[in-house]
Amino acid sequence: MAKLKLITFGCQANEADSEKIAGVLAQEGFELTETAEEADLILLNTCSIREKAEQKVYSLLGTFQKLKTQNPQLKIGLCGCLAQRDGVRLKDRFPYLDLVAGPGALIYRIPEILKGGTAYPVLPRPKEPLPLYVHSPRPRRGSTFKAWVSIMEGCNYFCTFCVVPYTRGPERSRPPEDILAEVQELLQQGYKEITLLGQTVNAYGKNLKPRTQFAHLLRAIDAVAGGEIRVRFTSSHPRDFTPDLIEAVAGLKSVCEHVHLPVQAGSDSVLRRMRRLYTREEYRAKVCALRRAVPDVALSTDLIVGFPGEREEDFQETLTLLQEVRFDSIYAFKYSPRPLTPAAAYPDQISEEIKTERLNILLRLQGEIALEQNRRRLGKIEEVLVEGGPNSKMGSSASGRTRRNQLVHFSQEFFVPGDTVFALITEAYSHYLKGKSP
Ligand code: 5AD
Ligand code: SF4
Repeated sequence: MAKLKLITFGCQANEADSEKIAGVLAQEGFELTETAEEADLILLNTCSIREKAEQKVYSLLGTFQKLKTQNPQLKIGLCGCLAQRDGVRLKDRFPYLDLVAGPGALIYRIPEILKGGTAYPVLPRPKEPLPLYVHSPRPRRGSTFKAWVSIMEGCNYFCTFCVVPYTRGPERSRPPEDILAEVQELLQQGYKEITLLGQTVNAYGKNLKPRTQFAHLLRAIDAVAGGEIRVRFTSSHPRDFTPDLIEAVAGLKSVCEHVHLPVQAGSDSVLRRMRRLYTREEYRAKVCALRRAVPDVALSTDLIVGFPGEREEDFQETLTLLQEVRFDSIYAFKYSPRPLTPAAAYPDQISEEIKTERLNILLRLQGEIALEQNRRRLGKIEEVLVEGGPNSKMGSSASGRTRRNQLVHFSQEFFVPGDTVFALITEAYSHYLKGKSP
């Protein structure tokens, strides 16, 4: 069998795409290998959301080029968002590339591109309809108990900092029947948790005929899942976080009590220039409504520091927002100017020093808030889906996640990954909890 080394950069959507790529290539006789030296094909599933992710790709490409001089049979390809953004131009820069393919429907054309021996002329913006799951090669899933289910692709929002609408194209939702068929298959295979994925997952259904809504899809999934599995979803756009969706999260047994709701900034002037389409107060009102309906809900968010023109007082508003909302966890990033996006050309770009300083202040504050939030879990009994075995660095015998998506480490119990167990929470830290069998 031919051997494929597949390296994934970036977000959960890319992880899900890599499982699809591995599935498509399994049909062509490829099996996965960890070792680049024994590979017949090396694919980098790239990310272009921030510059750092991009640089990692270039440095790895250099390493693999050397391998190719030793083994001329070796094929090297780029998939994902960077491949989509720069398209065939990448072949000029890296002539030894055997394949360039974007995300979305292009994944299913990788075998054809490989056979052609040339780079696929990537479109300016991918907009092909998504192939039906029921008619496609099955993804080669990395877990036997947790599964990604991509329910839509692309984004119509065009936030001024973000490259995704250019690389993943316009919003395209999968038909509900096709998603339900995938969920049913996962249930039969004994999966315990599914995560519904989309760049703006809760905008699901707008382009379908008949038009449908994300909350309807959640209800339909809950009806087939019957409370047997956990359902998560990410990422939500605050704009589409409707009362109907809040009701679904509150009422559906399978839907976990965790919402990832990227806010990006706390200042209205920054939010406006980011084109986020909500104000700080509108965001806070949605959080209040959600917490009223689901009092125990865990909330996480994404934040960007150092957006062009972000003044000290704007940054302070991000800090006060954290203090007011009290997120359970955050993902914070320094603003990274991206080709094609309007904000890259904005005046008043912020210096690297200020970005670093603001990021550190933000993370320090969130560390304190998260610790306080986590201490509120002490003494509670939580359902944990075990994901990891013994970890000597953490001194733990097993670890897993609660329905609120918090990491719990056990030190006495040797649970098997995939088990659903209960934990009495005994210790709280900023980024994890410790627990034992109640
Ligand atoms: N610079 C920094 N962070 C970014 N993100 C998206 N684009 C950029 C950028 N240009 C962050 C946002 C988004 C997350 C997936 O990545 O916070 O929610
Ligand atoms: Fe990017 Fe904004 Fe779309 Fe999210 S909503 S993918 S941040 S453009």
